[in-house]
Amino acid sequence: MVLVPGLLPPSYATWQTVNYWWQFFPIVTGIQWLTRFYPQGKTSINSRFNLPGKWAWAIMEAPGFITLLYNMYTLPPLLGITDGLPWENWTMATLYTIHYLYRAIIAPLLLNPSMSPIHPLVFLSATAFNLTNSLCLSGWLAGYGPTTKQDWAGHLYMIEVGLVVWGWALLGNIFHDDDLREIRRSALRIQHEKAARENKPVEGVDKLYMLPKNGLFNYVLFPHYLCEWIEWAGFWMCGGWSCTPARSFLFNEISTMLPRALQGYDWYVEKFGKERVGKRKAIIPGLL
Ligand SMILES: NC(=O)c1ccc[n+]([C@@H]2O[C@H](COP(=O)([O-])OP(=O)(O)OC[C@H]3O[C@@H](n4cnc5c(N)ncnc54)[C@H](OP(=O)(O)O)[C@@H]3O)[C@@H](O)[C@H]2O)c1
Repeated sequence: MVLVPGLLPPSYATWQTVNYWWQFFPIVTGIQWLTRFYPQGKTSINSRFNLPGKWAWAIMEAPGFITLLYNMYTLPPLLGITDGLPWENWTMATLYTIHYLYRAIIAPLLLNPSMSPIHPLVFLSATAFNLTNSLCLSGWLAGYGPTTKQDWAGHLYMIEVGLVVWGWALLGNIFHDDDLREIRRSALRIQHEKAARENKPVEGVDKLYMLPKNGLFNYVLFPHYLCEWIEWAGFWMCGGWSCTPARSFLFNEISTMLPRALQGYDWYVEKFGKERVGKRKAIIPGLL
């Protein structure tokens, strides 16, 4: 079923144009170096337009994998690919889907104790990012990239290494996300015990921040970002160095998350003091 002719699933011309221009997204993120205004998470603001954090994360992150799966099923028949796509294409689509099931559903709706409200500006930017990114990736995976066993010939070793890198980095991302969650979970446990003892209402843990300490948090303040970059580097390896959409994905993420991590570092220093932050860097141990 064609939802939007030429776009969903994308025609070759649409895919080629979007995929070309998507490489230049880092230029757009130049804005993030010029302003500290980023109304989400630690730097969320009071605004009557704010959206509830957990649901906003779910709704802005989910369109990516839904679009990708939709294109994976609808594009090949339109292009006359009747034998089905090779397992390598489906493996990459599965990696992307697993990550975004975690990011869009499991983390915000099932695991995170609380998430700051999000301004529509950030919500719309993130939704647009995910839609564009998944259009580029799924176009490549569903028909405009490799579509036969021969196209993938000689790539097995790179896919194996890429899968290992991707898997460990996803675990690292989840581990460090969870270390942040544990700060609020443990505060909530203490509040519940106190409430039961003193017959008082639970205050809640919205916008409660402490210095995380475990794993790579000993060296950097945003190890979950670093792990996510390594994850998508592994994904790019799976697709091969000529996989332009996977390359753009990695560089585009770095370009938007790096200024966020550096500004986050300043936020930690302002809140907890240089002494408590110590030798920790923002995102790359010992360097940055
Ligand atoms: N931000 C991006 O541009 C971006 C892009 C792609 C992927 N991601 C991935 O999405 C995930 C979340 O990103 P994020 O930018 O929201 O990360 P974050 O600012 O570190 O926040 C992650 C979660 O932990 C809470 N939190 C953060 N620092 C805390 C602290 N010191 N003490 C207690 N709780 C704390 C946050 O609550 P609050 O919401 O209340 O602050 C939020 O629920 C990461 O794994 C990242 O790799 C982010």
